[in-house]
Amino acid sequence: MWRKAIGSMAVGTVCLAVIGGLASCGGGSTAEHVLHLPHVLNTDHPVHKALVKFADEVEERSEGEMVIKIHPGGTLGNEQELVDNVSNDTDAFTKVSTTILETKTDLAKIYSLPYLFRSSEHMWQVLKGEIGQELLNMAIDQNLKGICYFDAGARSFYTKKKVTGPKDLQGMKIRVQKSVMMQKLVESLGASPQQIAFSELYTALDSGVVAGAENNIPSYYTTQHYKVAPYYVFDEHVRIPDILVMSAKRWRGLTSEEQKIIEEAADVAVEYQRELWQKERRQQMKAMRKAGVTFTRPDKKPFIEATKSIYKQFEGEDVMDYVERIRKVKVEKGQADETKEE
Ligand code: GCU
Repeated sequence: MWRKAIGSMAVGTVCLAVIGGLASCGGGSTAEHVLHLPHVLNTDHPVHKALVKFADEVEERSEGEMVIKIHPGGTLGNEQELVDNVSNDTDAFTKVSTTILETKTDLAKIYSLPYLFRSSEHMWQVLKGEIGQELLNMAIDQNLKGICYFDAGARSFYTKKKVTGPKDLQGMKIRVQKSVMMQKLVESLGASPQQIAFSELYTALDSGVVAGAENNIPSYYTTQHYKVAPYYVFDEHVRIPDILVMSAKRWRGLTSEEQKIIEEAADVAVEYQRELWQKERRQQMKAMRKAGVTFTRPDKKPFIEATKSIYKQFEGEDVMDYVERIRKVKVEKGQADETKEE
């Protein structure tokens, strides 16, 4: 981690000068702003591809004045470190799972609540609407400006031994993200949560340090976790969107025209990603079936019942106000309002 931290610090330090327009940073670029965007996903992941689209759009629309350099694969740190680096203005951007922001604000816990969204359509109606836009800025006082959300589908368990219901998860060591919410969720199902960084999970699964994990299909596929944990059960316990965050200080350092370019480029990237997600997900499932992965569609009721207790701790808090508002959001006419995506 030392090495990674130093690498990240170096990137940020050089670029501090850039935001003031004093110098250019990275690869001899003549851009006014060179902004770094590290994240943990692999380059064949649809969210990474959308980030590339975002960077291309920004560069083109700004005629090369703004350059975004993407560092994939967790080479500059795990998600907690990457968020901290934006929060303390070392890096300009990162893309993380919203659950990671819970160390910065309690409001981030909303998106990690089990079975909160009725469907992908319901989630997007919320994210694109008033609530989602409000919550983009949930950690603004920590210097984290939310730029946009990306689809991260529904998360389900995958294991080395077949699981069909919570009864099979009893006592099983399951990897979770650095998130108290995810820890509680896994505990409520009787399993034993283990916090492990995303990039270290393949080895942990392979060596049996954990018996399983939980994630969406593209992450399961692009990490090749399916090769060492070939049972995937579609319990779809949570839909946690990904979020692109930017240092609020750097945002304020941009002209309104530059800010507009970033917002418009993000809109294009989100639309691109949502389409890509559906398409690639289908292809990936096909490939994994071929490779021998067993997909199970369980009765979700026992999962829903077991995880309900998580809501209790938020009674009378702001989080519950949001939950009530989210539940009232209706999907647009003609769209499905139940889980059918995965
Ligand atoms: C998803 C998400 C990542 C996150 C990962 C994880 O793949 O897109 O941002 O790091 O889950 O479980 O750690």
